[in-house]
Amino acid sequence: MKAALIYEYGPPDVFRVEDTDTPKPLPNDVLIEVHAASVNPVDYKIRMGGQRGAIRLRMPAILGLDVSGRVAEVGAKVTQFKVGDEVYSSPTHRRPGTYAEFVAIDQSAVALKPKNMTHQEAATIPLVGLTAWDALVVKRRLKSGDKAFIQAGSGGVGSFAIQLAKHLGAYVSATCSTKNVEMVKGLGADQVIDYKKENYLDIIKDYDLVLEALGEPEQSKALKVLKKGGLLAALCAGLPENTKAYGPNLGLIATGIGLVKFKAKARFGYGVSSTQVLRASSGAFLSQITELIEAEKIKASIDKVFPLTEITDAHRHIETGRTRGKIVIAVR
Ligand SMILES: NC(=O)c1ccc[n+]([C@@H]2O[C@H](COP(=O)([O-])OP(=O)(O)OC[C@H]3O[C@@H](n4cnc5c(N)ncnc54)[C@H](OP(=O)(O)O)[C@@H]3O)[C@@H](O)[C@H]2O)c1
Repeated sequence: MKAALIYEYGPPDVFRVEDTDTPKPLPNDVLIEVHAASVNPVDYKIRMGGQRGAIRLRMPAILGLDVSGRVAEVGAKVTQFKVGDEVYSSPTHRRPGTYAEFVAIDQSAVALKPKNMTHQEAATIPLVGLTAWDALVVKRRLKSGDKAFIQAGSGGVGSFAIQLAKHLGAYVSATCSTKNVEMVKGLGADQVIDYKKENYLDIIKDYDLVLEALGEPEQSKALKVLKKGGLLAALCAGLPENTKAYGPNLGLIATGIGLVKFKAKARFGYGVSSTQVLRASSGAFLSQITELIEAEKIKASIDKVFPLTEITDAHRHIETGRTRGKIVIAVR
């Protein structure tokens, strides 16, 4: 099969699109013929070696944590899927590999693709959808009347999270820059704060949930918009920055210490809670997301589509931090 391989950690041009062996499914695996993948910021953080205290890749490695495609083969113990099923998935960080024509993924991480989405649309959903699910459903079940503040509403996670929060009945405020205001309104946000012109601290307070996408120092600032007992769900823990400063092992420890210190600051400084968002690679959660998509509660937001051969350009694009919605890799 063709795949985008990396032989070493480094900049976007470390990718080599070449022939390699098609993966053999383990007994619980589904082998998926990849139609589309999508790119997430964590992919470039892994590619740069910024996560290697937590995730050690065997080189050459195939990155990619989102896929939509067709089941080509099933392992001996697979009961939930059959050859020909149209599925989507976000495999675990320890077993990426969707930047390829085929990927083998444990059946527990796979779900049937929404029937009303193309493969390119469906590939944008799993990682950001499961991330938003962890924050808005698992960590803090948002309910009608709650107020949710979503930082970076025009990004991959934000564009999904706004729609999920609205479906759960929350009042949603979201930030973005001037050029993305109309897009974020279109996703259903009740209040859009243009961070180029306004400081959200002057505008909102007493929120139940903050989904914080920018890391420090923004994360500490965002504690101020919560009401007592509210929750800050943080997307960034600073692992790439700490890895750069201290190396992989000490960087991981420094990140753990940082999380504990931030929790203490939230609790004792502001009377609120904080949690690190951790996406579960869960086919069960993804099936619930499929239902929401088929009920037209959530739609895909695609910024750009790149062929697999242009994976280097796709990574350059995501690294700008200016993506609107998601970047798709068209494989078939
Ligand atoms: N913990 C987890 O499980 C998990 C899961 C997914 C993602 N993450 C992390 O969460 C972060 C966000 O992920 P993502 O996929 O949403 O990233 P993304 O798609 O690359 O986000 C890009 C968006 O961020 C917006 N943005 C940049 N600076 C901003 C600011 N100061 N205020 C408001 N918006 C701003 C940009 O809008 P403008 O161009 O308008 O500025 C752009 O639309 C990444 O660091 C990612 O690694 C963590």
